[in-house]
Amino acid sequence: MTNSSTIEWEQFYQSGKTGWDRGDISPNLNYWLENQQLQPCRILIPGCGNGYEVLHLAAKGFDVVAIDIAPTAVDNLNNALADHKLNAEVILADFFKWNPEKPFDALYEQTSLCALSPERWQAYEQCLFSWLKPNGKLLAQFMQTDVEGGPPYHCEMGDMTDLFDAARWQWSDEHHTKIVHSGGKSERVYRLTRV
Ligand SMILES: C[S@@+](CC[C@H](N)C(=O)[O-])C[C@H]1O[C@@H](n2cnc3c(N)ncnc32)[C@H](O)[C@@H]1O
Repeated sequence: MTNSSTIEWEQFYQSGKTGWDRGDISPNLNYWLENQQLQPCRILIPGCGNGYEVLHLAAKGFDVVAIDIAPTAVDNLNNALADHKLNAEVILADFFKWNPEKPFDALYEQTSLCALSPERWQAYEQCLFSWLKPNGKLLAQFMQTDVEGGPPYHCEMGDMTDLFDAARWQWSDEHHTKIVHSGGKSERVYRLTRV
């Protein structure tokens, strides 16, 4: 399964160059949980990294599947799950080459899209669409860097509404918040429904 992407991401984890890792769950995950916008279900976290959200959702009774291409991230997460006596399925794979046994009720997207170069975004959207059941939810956090290049790549909202086309995705207008990151970056939060 080794390819340049595997090696590149693995090196980030091995060298501790994981500036995206906040060391905890996203504050917006609690918002969705407290407002019953996310309830126990079968959920996938693609590009899970160290997977704080995986642990949190597993503890709350979700059936969690997580996938990442970097062996160190997958090992870290499996060790944390064992330490906390929690269960989740953690898959070491390139998500572009992976198909789930059955589709999901929800997807949690956090700094996975922005980690991919924009020429791969269409293929990633097709993965997200195919992994979800009809009427399934995409909990999306779109990275805003306002600079050229990446990763992380800037997810301009006009590009996002083109990518997640209204013919395939319903955009909820109930909660558009902004999560501030270090270095002037932020994420814009949306809940999309797959048609
Ligand atoms: C910027 S990090 C975000 C990690 C985590 N979501 C977080 O917010 O802490 C992007 C993650 O996507 C993973 N990744 C990149 N390309 C991937 C691919 N093709 N398949 C699976 N995982 C991938 C990387 O290994 C890395 O853990």
